[in-house]
Amino acid sequence: MFLTAPKTAQLDRQVIQNSIPLDLFKAIADLKKEMNAVILAHYYQDPDLQDIADYIGDSLGLSQAAANCQADVIVFLGVHFMAETAKILNPSKLVLLPDLDAGCSLADSCPADRFAKFKAEHPDHLVISYINCSADIKALSDIICTSANAVAIVNQIPQDRPIIFAPDRNLGRYVIEQTGRDMLLWDGACIVHEIFSERKLVELKLSHPEADIIAHPECEANVLRHADFIGSTTGLLKYVQNCDRKEFIVVTESGVIHQMQKATPFKKFIPAPPNSNCACNECPYMRLNTLEKVYLAMKNRSPEIILNESIRQAALIPMQRMLEMSI
Ligand code: 13P
Ligand code: SF4
Repeated sequence: MFLTAPKTAQLDRQVIQNSIPLDLFKAIADLKKEMNAVILAHYYQDPDLQDIADYIGDSLGLSQAAANCQADVIVFLGVHFMAETAKILNPSKLVLLPDLDAGCSLADSCPADRFAKFKAEHPDHLVISYINCSADIKALSDIICTSANAVAIVNQIPQDRPIIFAPDRNLGRYVIEQTGRDMLLWDGACIVHEIFSERKLVELKLSHPEADIIAHPECEANVLRHADFIGSTTGLLKYVQNCDRKEFIVVTESGVIHQMQKATPFKKFIPAPPNSNCACNECPYMRLNTLEKVYLAMKNRSPEIILNESIRQAALIPMQRMLEMSI
């Protein structure tokens, strides 16, 4: 079951092996019932973690699931900004993130003090922020978007209104291409989606001419120009289910292949190669969560997401706008 577990997970297991039950799947299911908890997971989590989730989705689906959640406790299997988003929407619920160090390079590329200054330099601009940002950045924003709805949201803004788009320059550039809107971009990026090699992708396509290339819009332009389809993780999953092709080169974090393979076991999925021989198409932040940490977080009701109430209230407004604009 843990043949591919990262080093940190192996260490965790050594440290805590005497205090955890042997059947973690059963122990987590029992705790879930006892606590009236729901487990929400992103597609970039380890397969084990996807398999214990009540709901697996992209950032938009997870926000909608969090907004409609009836449970007392949300166990969030994803990264910090996602769990924070669940807390913004559910201030009275306990929101647990198994590893508080599960951050995001993209969110980190946009510190609130620098962004506030940038925003102040462009007072006439509407601020649309990608959900991959901190609660502080959300609080400085007018509307939040995800990779699933960014184009649709920008298309709803009056033509004469100038826009700041933050923090992902790659998604921003893709939205500019799709909408024809001239937006001011924050210069942030995701370390996972910037690692794909165009040269290796082209070589892979040459050896698999029947495969469709499917890519996430956080990738760079030189990679996206080879894609047959571009979409959010849910968009990519739906595409492989509805497309006649039997083979796909997947240019995003490789965790999403678990659901693709489950949904279409007879199809073949090839992870796109990074530009070195690393496992860099796995998000190092997402992969910090492990089954052991999920069990311990539920047992200890910690680590939980705690937010400053005035920041939460300010961040809630652009989140609610996004949910209303996504119906
Ligand atoms: P989506 O969940 O919108 O597909 O974005 C992927 C991602 O990078 C999440 O961190
Ligand atoms: Fe952040 Fe990239 Fe990891 Fe998504 S894949 S959580 S954007 S670092």
